[in-house]
Amino acid sequence: MKAIIVEPKKTGTVRLENISEPQPKEGSVLVRAVAVGVCGTDVEIAEGKYGWAPQGQQYLVLGHESLGRVIDPGPSSGLKKDDLVVGIVRRPDPVPCPNCAVGEWDMCRNGLYTERGIKEIHGFMSELWRIEPEYAIKVDPSLGLLGVLLEPSSVVAKALEQVGLIGRRSFWEPKTLLVTGAGPVGLLAALFAKIYGLDVHVLDRVEGGPKADLVRELGGTYHSGSVKDLKFEPDAIIECTGVGQVIGESIQKIGANGIVCLAGIGHGGSGLSANIADVASSAVLRNNVIVGSVNANKRHWYRASQYLARADRSWLMKLITRIEKPESFMNALQRKPDDIKVVIQFSEI
Ligand code: BGC
Repeated sequence: MKAIIVEPKKTGTVRLENISEPQPKEGSVLVRAVAVGVCGTDVEIAEGKYGWAPQGQQYLVLGHESLGRVIDPGPSSGLKKDDLVVGIVRRPDPVPCPNCAVGEWDMCRNGLYTERGIKEIHGFMSELWRIEPEYAIKVDPSLGLLGVLLEPSSVVAKALEQVGLIGRRSFWEPKTLLVTGAGPVGLLAALFAKIYGLDVHVLDRVEGGPKADLVRELGGTYHSGSVKDLKFEPDAIIECTGVGQVIGESIQKIGANGIVCLAGIGHGGSGLSANIADVASSAVLRNNVIVGSVNANKRHWYRASQYLARADRSWLMKLITRIEKPESFMNALQRKPDDIKVVIQFSEI
């Protein structure tokens, strides 16, 4: 079968290759791939900066934002042939650490977790894949191709849950949420926060265009420019850029008792625009919490699937700005200015 593979940490090794079909030991549910979303993590892996092959193997099948149709549900999954499913990304560490032991693999303590398409388990960019029944999430059939947005939605559902849990440490009635970065995660965060009834603001470096339109269609306010110039203090910020300056300004802009949730993974850059002690003292004096959030457990996947099912389909469809064939994987892995979510389609929905 065709698969998009990479030799992790080696540049220029991504390729479409024929590999053998997955073995039943990889999961009793056999799935035909429909589509796989591409995100910054895939690009990093393709550039040789991140990623790990399964132990004893040279290559990793890429892809962690899946969508597929069940070919064979196996003996005990409760799924039916032709059900639309998405695969959970992370697996608990084998020790297991206390968090993995209770199903919170997203909070793994020892870093020995594995992740499909990222860390030591093959991903979903192959014509067929297998999954363990307990890691297959059934998708509302009316979502169709939009089911491919479930993985980034699960990441958002966790980040928002974290903010809600932390907020409850004191009397808290959040009204205003700022999202920095209008990529898929940022826009999905804006969508879900609107479902919560918050006043949503989204800031991105582009001045207008489809991202700004999407925010306005939600009833949110779009800003370009810098966080420090905003004329209000948000109750919570979901930071999706991973850019040092945006992070530093977010911490200084957040309102008293407010929470900055860091959900973007960035590297390097020119450092904080402000002195770290000044950033810290503003957090101390205003009881702020700065929290990192990565990945998602089953609770978040469930919640994300509920939010997606409630969302406006035509709005969600505009998040998918490019659909590529597996043969055009190099194009799919290249970021273009108007991209929001690029999807590689393996078969008809
Ligand atoms: C994925 C997460 C994963 C993280 C770190 C992200 O792109 O969405 O599921 O935990 O990368 O590997």
